[in-house]
Amino acid sequence: MKALQGHTKKASIQSQELAVYIHWPFCKSKCPYCDFYKELNHGVNQEVIIGEYLKALQKYRDLMPERTVKSVFFGGGTPSLIAPKNIEKIIDFIIKHWVIADNIEISLEANPNSRYDTMFKDLKSAGINRLSLGVQALNDSDLRFLGRTHNAQTARLCLQEIVQTFDNHSADLIYALPRHTVQNWLPQLEEICSFGLKHLSLYQLTIEEGTVFARKGVKSLDEEKSVEIYNFTRDYLTQKNYCHYEVSNFALSGFASRHNLTYWQGGDYIGIGKSAHGRLNLDGRYYAVTYPFTNEELTPQERAEELIIMGLRLTNGINKKDFKNICGIDFNNFVNQKNLQQLKEQNLLVETFDYLKAGYEGFLLIDAIAAKLCE
Ligand SMILES: C[S@@+](CC[C@H](N)C(=O)[O-])C[C@H]1O[C@@H](n2cnc3c(N)ncnc32)[C@H](O)[C@@H]1O
Ligand code: SF4
Repeated sequence: MKALQGHTKKASIQSQELAVYIHWPFCKSKCPYCDFYKELNHGVNQEVIIGEYLKALQKYRDLMPERTVKSVFFGGGTPSLIAPKNIEKIIDFIIKHWVIADNIEISLEANPNSRYDTMFKDLKSAGINRLSLGVQALNDSDLRFLGRTHNAQTARLCLQEIVQTFDNHSADLIYALPRHTVQNWLPQLEEICSFGLKHLSLYQLTIEEGTVFARKGVKSLDEEKSVEIYNFTRDYLTQKNYCHYEVSNFALSGFASRHNLTYWQGGDYIGIGKSAHGRLNLDGRYYAVTYPFTNEELTPQERAEELIIMGLRLTNGINKKDFKNICGIDFNNFVNQKNLQQLKEQNLLVETFDYLKAGYEGFLLIDAIAAKLCE
């Protein structure tokens, strides 16, 4: 690891796009399923932390002044705990110091447990133009099981407020809980669709190592049932005009998350805040960057593997030309051809002239498929 300021040259591709991730690793309470890096919100001095974030942004700006920022994403943790005036400071800095894409997407992940009467209006005034709400469940027993500190009524109120306040909105839900069946999950799916959100992120519950759920021995839904509920969910949402564009993500036409597409399509992004990371192409070399300002160079092979793992998450799959442009290796020379043929014969992969993508059944096995391609 070395400090990025040692990198003297500027990014060679003029006006290359950049996505900016701002991580706020503080929460009011810790949910028993969550393994994201977070701390409790007690005694946090926001002004000091925001000051540090601005210094880190300044360093990146000095390194890459010619970039065009296409998206900013405030994630967490619970970034809706940041005072809107502090959010505005970050957005203002980015707008003043970089070129900004005309259709810049500026998202914030809000938790219903931080709601106050004017929260969404204040966030909009601070510059947020896309609000993603951590609903997680729309009934109180699932919310209690997930250890959430809001109830379904507050989630509904927040959902109404965000569709009234923003033109672009999303909600996160966790399903395939241990007691879920297609029948008892359907009412939540129907209800979330009734709000007219532009985007939905629906995650199957994963029992992550080291979490309270793992320690308590909570078990995931068995594989057969989780496949059934996953297939039902994606078919249901497709009928409701939500395009299933990524493993867990669905969007009305034109509303896929521009920010998250950067991760899946191998674009450049920086991460600000403890535990945040990024990927940067500087002078044709690839770096994994970590906050506050260090980097590790990735070999073309390491970058190629990442592009396969991330690209297979997309319904459109991996764009083979982009793959070569990004990592410098020809796609067909990189992937294991024998395994590729087998996976195609099993209909787990579908290949076109430009793309390689998972088939309907393959979508449930993308990690194993990516490993086979990279063997
Ligand atoms: C990092 S969290 C931040 C969201 C925000 N703090 C909140 O809780 O509302 C992003 C999303 O990941 C999902 N998530 C986190 N842990 C998960 C798990 N173990 N299984 C499935 N989904 C999970 C949740 O839907 C959550 O909204
Ligand atoms: S799910 Fe969200 S609110 Fe809960 S601990 Fe994780 S980051 Fe915090």
